[in-house]
Amino acid sequence: MKIPFIDLQAQYQAYKSEIDEAIQNVLNSSQYIMGPEVNKLEEGLAAYTGSKHAIACSSGTDALLIALMAIDIQPGDEVITTPFTFISSAEVVSLCGATPVFVDINEKTYNIDSTKIEEKITSKTKAIIPVSLYGQVSDMDEINAIARKYNLIVIEDAAQSFGATYKGNQSCNLSHFGATSFFPSKPLGCYGDGGALFTNNDEYAEKARIILAHGSKVRYQHELVGINGRIDALQASILNVKLKYFSQEIKKREQIGASYFELLKDKALSLPFIEKDRTSVFAQYTVRSVQREKVTEKLNLNGIPTSIHYPQPLHLQKCYMFLGYKEGDFPIAEKASKEVFSLPMSPFLKKEDLVFVCQNIS
Ligand SMILES: Cc1ncc(COP(=O)(O)O)c(C=O)c1O
Repeated sequence: MKIPFIDLQAQYQAYKSEIDEAIQNVLNSSQYIMGPEVNKLEEGLAAYTGSKHAIACSSGTDALLIALMAIDIQPGDEVITTPFTFISSAEVVSLCGATPVFVDINEKTYNIDSTKIEEKITSKTKAIIPVSLYGQVSDMDEINAIARKYNLIVIEDAAQSFGATYKGNQSCNLSHFGATSFFPSKPLGCYGDGGALFTNNDEYAEKARIILAHGSKVRYQHELVGINGRIDALQASILNVKLKYFSQEIKKREQIGASYFELLKDKALSLPFIEKDRTSVFAQYTVRSVQREKVTEKLNLNGIPTSIHYPQPLHLQKCYMFLGYKEGDFPIAEKASKEVFSLPMSPFLKKEDLVFVCQNIS
């Protein structure tokens, strides 16, 4: 028995005829870059999130980078984020020549501890990138209030939380910018790389569109130094099919999250903690044990894959040694990185597989 960690094949089989047709239509049209599928995707994403502008782009990383470039982040600037995330959240800051400044996480949610942000603000701080880890949004009201007080820009790294809500509002539409990823394993995933940037600000949106097209609005006229940040029409066409079923999939994710909770609540594990005013899309169903090696070894031996998000916090990564952080600087993130592991999760996870996973945790 081998349970898929994320069952992308079952999802493809469920929508196969529509996805195959969408791909074939793009091939028949020969419109591979930009065009009607990308426009349709942007309209669908804006409608889903309620954000005025949805700008489809080449990846979640590029969505974050474009946002930082749109607000003109420069060498010498500082951007606050969490050390307990995928590398992109900080990498984009470094790509602008600026400095990522880390703040430890909340022990229950694994998101940035909003009570510890203010002490890290200096005259160089320009922005905050809270990461909606595992599919649950951070304390956005508190973070937006800090940003207003110090005149900072907030960019939600919503790579894992597209479809989640905060006080009834959609992730990606909770601050100056939201940036999400359509990497295949994400809650809304394509069959390659893709992402989107969201904003309600017309000026930022216009600048972001220029940046993602090599800094150009008029062909061969480059008013800014930009990037090649476009999404492929093929990926957009796949996302247009999947977006139709996305709300249904979110419900299934919530049901699976609830079933896991029911079957695991009496085990010696810390289960995901979802704040009352939020919903999670469970991009990962991540639990925690001081005996992680023992527990995951048994699961893996029985054909149940597990994964660790993330085994090393960013301040201890080799690429960030030059920032001068050391072990002990962010104890909550460091402890979490030694104890967390994620279980199989997808809207297509079969009930019997879920039960089997839980039976193998002792
Ligand atoms: C928290 C977070 N931020 C950013 C990204 C980057 O997204 P992409 O892989 O589409 O560049 C990811 C993807 O894994 C992520 O998990």
